[in-house]
Amino acid sequence: MMVTKYTALFALGLLASAFGMPSSPPDPSYIKNCPGPMLPPGYGSVPNPDTPEAFLDYTEFKKAAFAASAPPGYDSIFVNLKSPIKGPNYYLGYHALKDYSISDCAEYCEETDGCEAFNIFFERSPKVDPNPKCKNPPSTTLITCSLWSLSPGKARAAASNDRGWRYEFHVVIAGSNGYIRGHKKDCPGYKIEYFGDSAINAPVDCKGEYTYMGYKRFDAGGYDVARCAKACSEQNEYNSAHPPTDGSKLRLCHFTNSYIEKKNGIPQAQYCALYSKAWHKKQATNNGQWQGKDHITISYSVGLTNVTGKHDACV
Ligand SMILES: *[C@@H]1O[C@H](CO)[C@@H](O)[C@H](O)[C@H]1NC(C)=O
Repeated sequence: MMVTKYTALFALGLLASAFGMPSSPPDPSYIKNCPGPMLPPGYGSVPNPDTPEAFLDYTEFKKAAFAASAPPGYDSIFVNLKSPIKGPNYYLGYHALKDYSISDCAEYCEETDGCEAFNIFFERSPKVDPNPKCKNPPSTTLITCSLWSLSPGKARAAASNDRGWRYEFHVVIAGSNGYIRGHKKDCPGYKIEYFGDSAINAPVDCKGEYTYMGYKRFDAGGYDVARCAKACSEQNEYNSAHPPTDGSKLRLCHFTNSYIEKKNGIPQAQYCALYSKAWHKKQATNNGQWQGKDHITISYSVGLTNVTGKHDACV
């Protein structure tokens, strides 16, 4: 169902831009002065005068950006920049919004596999596709929600420079706010690494030592990376209180892989796979499997390594 919903959202986006075209005929003088294919109009207001300078200085955009607060589960990473997040390797698509709505954008991120960050902004866009006969058309203001699979450091760095020129039309951005999933919270003693849509698949280290210690599964309560850290630490308290009596070595959890398992796109449960040694992105190769007709996939996979001591598995 998630999959169809996701697809439906994309379809809706396309429909919205198709049906969003003005139903009344465009201003004839404007077409006469500036012929060319019409571009989908946006829903934001257009400053007067219609210039890039006025756009960048427009109070309404600033106000919207500063009034917005991070939605539950997300942290704000920047406010009111004049640039969007960039980085083709991490881009998951965009949605045209009717309002500058942080919660609508967060919802799109929630529904998109691998989405770690989102960026909402106003964009000065030409009403007519700029061309040699219409080099500087009037503008329309798009409100865009773009989705990203970025880690926080990368998202900050990625918000740079402007959109550039199309003939004599200057595409500029204002009120650009960025938000990132609040995964980093409440995992004291652990270092976090993002694996995206793959889980760790490496039970045995180079010495043949079995590092996997089983898993904890949570069926309710949303996605909370911190409970994997807790599960790992609690396992240690238990194991230390109940040391092996057969002479084998006491095994402690130093690494946990937190992820959501989905069945046909629908989240089933959060898993915390526990390991005695730390594994890294290279070993995150399990991206699910087919069980008969059911497609099992992994999302929001994160590795948490105990920062006290050295726990890397040999490879
Ligand atoms: C990290 O590992 C050390 C050494 O095994 C252990 O003493 C400590 O409790 C662990 N930290 C956490 C947060 O579990």
